[in-house]
Amino acid sequence: MGDDVPPGWTQIATLADFGTARQLVVAYGGLSILLRKLNAGLNDGLVALHNVCTHLGQPLAGGRVIAGQIICPFHGACFDLRTGAALSGPAVLPLHRFPVRVDGDAVWVDLSKRPSVFPATSIGQT
Ligand code: FES
Repeated sequence: MGDDVPPGWTQIATLADFGTARQLVVAYGGLSILLRKLNAGLNDGLVALHNVCTHLGQPLAGGRVIAGQIICPFHGACFDLRTGAALSGPAVLPLHRFPVRVDGDAVWVDLSKRPSVFPATSIGQT
């Protein structure tokens, strides 16, 4: 990013932090952020998602990833990795996605728009 880092952008990891894994959870500024490498069919990029399911607020890390979708390990809600959209219940609200950029080995995330701590409108939806 050089010297002109836009407001809100923060380096939270490096590509080396992944090791051989495709997924990394980073705790930063009170947030849990799930970094996930997409496969070649999804432009071989990197996504940064709030690691909090919009159903009942459980962590998504550890959920299976199939065909560009992540499945919450708790009650099975399914989200599109690229858009964060809830594809099947019990969650109905999308995951918060952080803009992410890779500059050399550095992984930068725009934290200027923070997710709701817990989406109250999803409480009780099963
Ligand atoms: S907490 Fe994720 S589906 Fe219930």
